[in-house]
Amino acid sequence: MTIEVTVNGKFYTVDVPQDTPLLWVLRDVIGLTGTKYGCGIAQCGACTVHVGGNAVRSCITAIGDVAKPVTTIEGLDVDGNHPVQRAWREERVPQCGYCQAGQIMQAAALLAEINSPSDQQIRDAMAGNICRCGCYQRIQSAVRTASKGS
Ligand code: FES
Ligand code: FES
Repeated sequence: MTIEVTVNGKFYTVDVPQDTPLLWVLRDVIGLTGTKYGCGIAQCGACTVHVGGNAVRSCITAIGDVAKPVTTIEGLDVDGNHPVQRAWREERVPQCGYCQAGQIMQAAALLAEINSPSDQQIRDAMAGNICRCGCYQRIQSAVRTASKGS
């Protein structure tokens, strides 16, 4: 089945079943491997991307249901200088890095919606993004820093 999707401003036609997870299309068909597979059941946040500006779990989003443009970590900012990415570098957030694309996309969606979130709003927004390395303090701090610089 031929499906049309816009990712990071580029238009793609992909030939996959409608129920193929967006994550597989991004990684295996389009070749954007920055978005990670963690649990596959919407429990970890590693696969978070934006669809129409909203953070979604691409592991449980069928490509046939994607009606708005998709942004992945590769397209958040062409130079990697989105305020969240700058804050992430400043605060040296990542440890192993596996969860980080999802964390950054989740944080960017939060700040697009609320440009100066409270600590509780940050905690609530980031609660579904698991970090096995336990970088939660630095994530919280970097989102706060990004909110000041955005
Ligand atoms: S891989 Fe999608 S939420 Fe874990
Ligand atoms: S930095 Fe290792 S899982 Fe988050």
